Amino acid sequence: MSSGDETRKLQHQKMSSDLDTLQLPISGHREKLINAVKKYPILIVTGETGSGKTTQLPQYLHQAGFAKHGIIGVTQPRRVAAITVAQRVSEEMNCQLGRGVGYQVRFDDCTSEDTVIKYMTDGCLMREILADSKLSRYSVVILDEAHERSLNTDILFGLLKQFFHRKCHGKRKATLKVVVMSATLEEKKLSEFFDSCPVYVIPGRTYPVSTVFCNLIGPEDKESSAYVKDVVKVVIDLHTNEPAGDILVFLTGQIEIEKACDLLYQKAEAIDYNYDMQDRSLEGLLILPLYGSMPTEQQRKIFQPAPPGLRKCVVATNIAATSLTVNGIRYVVDSGFVKQLSYNSRVSMHILEVVPISKSEALQRAGRAGRTSSGKCFCIYSKEFWKKCMPEFTVPEIRRTSLTSVILTLKCLEIHDVIRFPYVDKPEERFILEALKQLYQCDAIDRRGQVTTLGKLMIEFPLPPSLTRALIKAASFGHESILLPLAAMLSVENVFIRPGHPDKQQAAILKHQELATKVGSSNDFATLLHIFEECKASVSPSSWCRDYFIHWRALKSAFSVETQLQDILTRLKNNKDFPVEQFSGSRSELLRRCLCSGYFMNVARRSAGKVFCTMDGHGSVVHIHPSSTLFEQEFQLDWIIFHEVIVTSKVYVRIVCPIRYEWVKDLLPKLHEIDVYDLSNVARHEMAEEEVVKLEIPERKDSADSQEGAWGKLQKRNDDRSIM
Ligand code: CDP
Ligand code: MG
Repeated sequence: MSSGDETRKLQHQKMSSDLDTLQLPISGHREKLINAVKKYPILIVTGETGSGKTTQLPQYLHQAGFAKHGIIGVTQPRRVAAITVAQRVSEEMNCQLGRGVGYQVRFDDCTSEDTVIKYMTDGCLMREILADSKLSRYSVVILDEAHERSLNTDILFGLLKQFFHRKCHGKRKATLKVVVMSATLEEKKLSEFFDSCPVYVIPGRTYPVSTVFCNLIGPEDKESSAYVKDVVKVVIDLHTNEPAGDILVFLTGQIEIEKACDLLYQKAEAIDYNYDMQDRSLEGLLILPLYGSMPTEQQRKIFQPAPPGLRKCVVATNIAATSLTVNGIRYVVDSGFVKQLSYNSRVSMHILEVVPISKSEALQRAGRAGRTSSGKCFCIYSKEFWKKCMPEFTVPEIRRTSLTSVILTLKCLEIHDVIRFPYVDKPEERFILEALKQLYQCDAIDRRGQVTTLGKLMIEFPLPPSLTRALIKAASFGHESILLPLAAMLSVENVFIRPGHPDKQQAAILKHQELATKVGSSNDFATLLHIFEECKASVSPSSWCRDYFIHWRALKSAFSVETQLQDILTRLKNNKDFPVEQFSGSRSELLRRCLCSGYFMNVARRSAGKVFCTMDGHGSVVHIHPSSTLFEQEFQLDWIIFHEVIVTSKVYVRIVCPIRYEWVKDLLPKLHEIDVYDLSNVARHEMAEEEVVKLEIPERKDSADSQEGAWGKLQKRNDDRSIM
């Protein structure tokens, strides 16, 4: 923890900083905001994107002395935002990143003893709550980007609400301050959720934005994948016909963005500037990608003004909608699509897919063009598409995604009644039950819904339960070295480079094939493992990556992730409860068997031709993705497991390996032995018990932390609810 001296030093440095933040809409509200935070335990602050909430408010609170009793923590739903903003604020405060101002995201902790303002992902704060439910290190917790309604932020809302409702924590409740920050979207709903807590509105300045529908995508193109080309066409038209002003393009993900940037580069090169350009003051286009896993040096350029004569064109994911404000944008080009995790009823699975954005999201995107002057938004879609295909509002993540990790977290926090947890928007009960079922199948909870010893080990890993289960299996055999690199490779961005240029594309494909064949039998998991090992063992890992068209940056992160997972595992292996098993067999079998123990819900069997059928009870039809080494080898296969599902024109499974039926034979019944009805009985059972508690044990027992088990906890929960 920093001393008072450190606090003063930072304050002084702030004054000598040359970064101009006085012009931001928030700057006139400093004193009032500080007083409001002093006065209320929970405060909501809203204001237009770019008004200075994220970068300034933590500094104001720091200057007002809030950091004397603990850290000022700020959560972000996106890792890039956490890193970029921390960087910016450390510059504004003139201190080294990681000292006074730091950040922490999954697998990357850039904080120190001196850190007083800490930006982090909401997932990181969730993990901290597991170790310290009172968040005693913090004086202020700021939940930023609340309107995004990310899964973890939503759960944090519920946990903090419960925290303030508890009868215990008396002293702590008086000192912890919570600020919820959001764009002007959800403040009413959130205020109601937090017992009508006050809302501080920072008046914004916005300019009118006119919308142009380019009609390249209509209602029939809902699953179109041509939007990258359409977007490029619109950008080039705009660049040649519209007066100076920077462009912000909204696309769906890293691969699409890289493709668009390649195409834009080619097209922009080909423009004959003497004839085509309307605006003679412009000579060219400065093309800058912006997506989640980008290197930080590159991100800086986004915020710097373009050199004279150049028009800046930032090609971004949704991150630029509210998380990061790029100044000087006059034109927005909206693809109308977003990549999001959602439940796909066609395959009864949660998958990452490209879907039309909501109308409120479209408005938010367009608004980015009207920050400093009036602007224009070019939508590649038609008005019809807007009307028919776009929902009014974005569905909060909690209502469309897999809940396994959060439900396990809640269970570990001894919140047993996950159905009646205070959700801002309650997820559908079947999703909660589905998560309980999967946790049961992974042996993380027992039939009564209680966390098992294994579940307590699993929660320590910042990985999805399936991967954690496989890792613990390998470790129980004493062979974690086979799963650790793989878990790391599956946790970083896509490692394969797909060059834009056709000649290079072919060369890359050949090199990737070479890597796959080195493994011997076809198995995408083994290929990833091989890439990790061979790269690490090479004399120059970065040139090895260049030769094989592999992202060196991704590999570098994988190396670091592996070390961190290894540290967690080493710590847990000292635990007497850590399982120990014997295995004798080949390395290839060992790998696949461990994978089976985590991924057995992702088992499919070839039914006919190239068609596979999942074994999870839904019997969905899936195909092997063309990027897999098993693609076009389907006829030789019988049973497979897969890492993930992608839906485009077909339902594809990606990262696949062949397995033998006998390896999953004993596990598969688990998929069916407990079905949703059974678990809903468990849930109903829980509720029935609570009723009993209410009726039969009238006197209150303050024994939530004692060994009484579920009864004591249920009693306590009822108390909590009675004052809600
Ligand atoms: O959180 P909110 O949207 O209200 O605003 P902010 O993120 O605090 O941004 C305030 C200003 O700082 C904007 O004008 C941003 O463009 C600028 N900023 C920047 O120049 N570089 C960064 N890395 C982050 C913010
Ligand atoms: Mg912000």
